[in-house]
This record gives sequence, structure tokens and C-alpha cells, in this order.
Amino acid sequence: MKQTEHKTKRLIIRPLKTSDYRTWLDAHVYGLPRQSKWDRDPYPASECTLKIFKNILQEYKGLAGKDDYYRYGIFQKKTKVLVGLIDFNIYDRSDLQFANYGYRIHNRHWGNGFGSEAAAMGLRIGFKELKLNRLEAAINLDNKKSIKMVKVLGMKKEGIRKKFWYENGKWVDHLIYVALPEDVGLNSQMPFKK
Ligand SMILES: CC(C)(COP(=O)(O)OP(=O)(O)OC[C@H]1O[C@@H](n2cnc3c(N)ncnc32)[C@H](O)[C@@H]1OP(=O)(O)O)[C@@H](O)C(=O)NCCC(=O)NCCS
Repeated sequence: MKQTEHKTKRLIIRPLKTSDYRTWLDAHVYGLPRQSKWDRDPYPASECTLKIFKNILQEYKGLAGKDDYYRYGIFQKKTKVLVGLIDFNIYDRSDLQFANYGYRIHNRHWGNGFGSEAAAMGLRIGFKELKLNRLEAAINLDNKKSIKMVKVLGMKKEGIRKKFWYENGKWVDHLIYVALPEDVGLNSQMPFKK
């Protein structure tokens, strides 16, 4: 599926390219220390070289080419700074057209409403551009900021999926919030095979 550029009031959402290296480096190495259990610490600069960045971009390209996984960077329109990401991990095509929907805002940019602004557009990207019919956010039970955000987006709680994700050496339960095309005024997608 071809990935393109999308705009919201304050943000640009598009795949990363090599020329994003400086802002990517800045986002990953010079962020604030971990602000919560669900945040992460800045990366060492040695893990964020241009060579590594180019390899990562190649990896994303390969995964998107196989229709397995799609990642988009979130950029602030005004400053061109990379403030976060959304991603889609395809669980199934053919019958379900179903993906896990992920999002992250780099901690220096929390509290500006960027997460909900980007993730609302991300739902449309998932349905229209990636032709998905079901987007699921799987959220740790105590990830309050994420739960608050999906509620703002109007995603619907379906329940708790037991021992869904292997994290830090154990299988953990996740809250499942779902969006369907009709929830954002779009038509259902028809099934198709890869
Ligand atoms: C969850 C996460 C994406 C939320 O990012 P965010 O941009 O801060 O979230 P929102 O868009 O919901 O922003 C809402 C906050 O911005 C404030 N805000 C400021 N200006 C705003 C505006 N113009 N519009 C909307 N909200 C605004 C709101 O008051 C609210 O503040 P509060 O959190 O103190 O109540 C972020 O915390 C994150 O990346 N966490 C780590 C990764 C993670 O948990 N990912 C999800 C895994 S399931």
C-alpha cells in the first residue's frame, strides 16, 4: 500500500525519509528522561547514527512492501520537528482487514494535544490509505494517558484481552479499544488478499 503525506491543523504525518535524520536524532537522543512507566529514556547517541537510521528506513520500507507494518512520523508544521509516530501492525488481510494501531509522542511534546490530533488523522489513514477495516489500540491497563486519548478519539472499549502481549518477561493483559470506518464517517472496506 502506498504511503503518502497528510496534514492536520498543526501537524504533518508522513513516512520518514533520510533528510529527517537530524530531527530524528534530536527526538531520540535529546528527549527528557523517562516521564512515566510507559515512556522511555533517551537512546545513547551511538545507537542513533546516520547509518543505523538509514538501515531502519530500509527495514520500514521492506515491511511496508510486504504489507506487514507501516510507520509514519508526526512533524510539527511550524517547526518541522519530529514530535512522534503512529504505526500499523497488520494482523490479517483477506478476511479481517485488521491492524494494531500504535502511537507515541516524544515526551518533550506531551500535553499539547498532538497525540489526539495525529491519532485522529491516523484513523483515517488506516482506513483510507491502508484499506483497513478495524483498528485496535491494545493498551496496558494502567496507561492512563493512552486510555484518555483513545476516549477523546471516540474509540470504543471492547474489553480486556488476557495475556495478550509479552512484555518485560511476562504475558500481560491489555485493554482493547477499537475504531471502525463508520466511526469516522467512512465506508467499510471490502476484503482482499495480499
Ligand atoms: C499517550 C500519548 C501519545 C499522549 O500524548 P499527548 O500528545 O500528550 O496526548 P493528547 O493529545 O491526548 O494531549 C492531551 C493533553 O494536551 C493538553 N492540550 C494542550 N493544548 C491542547 C490542544 N490544543 N488540544 C488538545 N489538548 C491540548 C490537554 O489539556 C491534555 O493535557 P493533560 O494530559 O495534562 O490532561 C503520550 O503520552 C505517549 O506517547 N505516551 C508514551 C507512549 C504510549 O503510551 N503509547 C501508547 C501505547 S498504547
